Amino acid sequence: MRHGLAFALGYLRHPRRVGAIAPASKALAQAILIEVMRSDPRILIEVGAGTGAITRALLPALARIERFMVIERDPGFAQLLCRNFPDLEVLNHCATRLDALDIEAQCPVTVVSSLPLLSMTREEAHGCIDAMVALIESRPGSRLIQYTYASPHLRPFNDIPIGWRWRRAASIWANLPPATVWTLEQASHPSSHTHNGFH
Ligand SMILES: C[S@@+](CC[C@H](N)C(=O)[O-])C[C@H]1O[C@@H](n2cnc3c(N)ncnc32)[C@H](O)[C@@H]1O
Repeated sequence: MRHGLAFALGYLRHPRRVGAIAPASKALAQAILIEVMRSDPRILIEVGAGTGAITRALLPALARIERFMVIERDPGFAQLLCRNFPDLEVLNHCATRLDALDIEAQCPVTVVSSLPLLSMTREEAHGCIDAMVALIESRPGSRLIQYTYASPHLRPFNDIPIGWRWRRAASIWANLPPATVWTLEQASHPSSHTHNGFH
């Protein structure tokens, strides 16, 4: 409940940047954990972590990864995340600055994004998309997991590198609003060839 209030205050500060009226549900957070566990990233980066509903659900992944970095632009949310997750690398940064992260070249990363790309300004959304795509494109085996509140048939964005594709991983109706989890990965990625009924 405390997080619900923190979230509502964050929404009042920047409605377009927060882009939702409630934190992610347990069902959505769990679907994202399952999707993260489908591959073996060495580094997990959560972007736009808000009050940490997804961050908390992703903690079991720590057993399989080397680093878990959390990026949040809003200073109030970033402070809350630092307090609640003292063992994680929480950075009060804008996602457009992903290129400034000190990450070994060639190291596979999984980026989990809660960024509300459809409600942010076009410039900010483009800056964030470019930064996320540049990060995963330069590291073989990397992926971007992005959820949206739009129609389950609408991909998060269309301008993707050649040889990459979106896979619809899950639709979560028990979320406010209902959400769809998408993964951007190389077409040759092993999880691209498994069937989950959503392709
Ligand atoms: C939909 S909310 C996140 C919800 C979060 N998963 C939760 O359950 O609390 C989107 C978050 O993205 C953050 N955000 C928006 N623009 C950002 C940017 N350019 N860089 C980093 N974070 C950003 C907002 O501050 C907000 O916390």
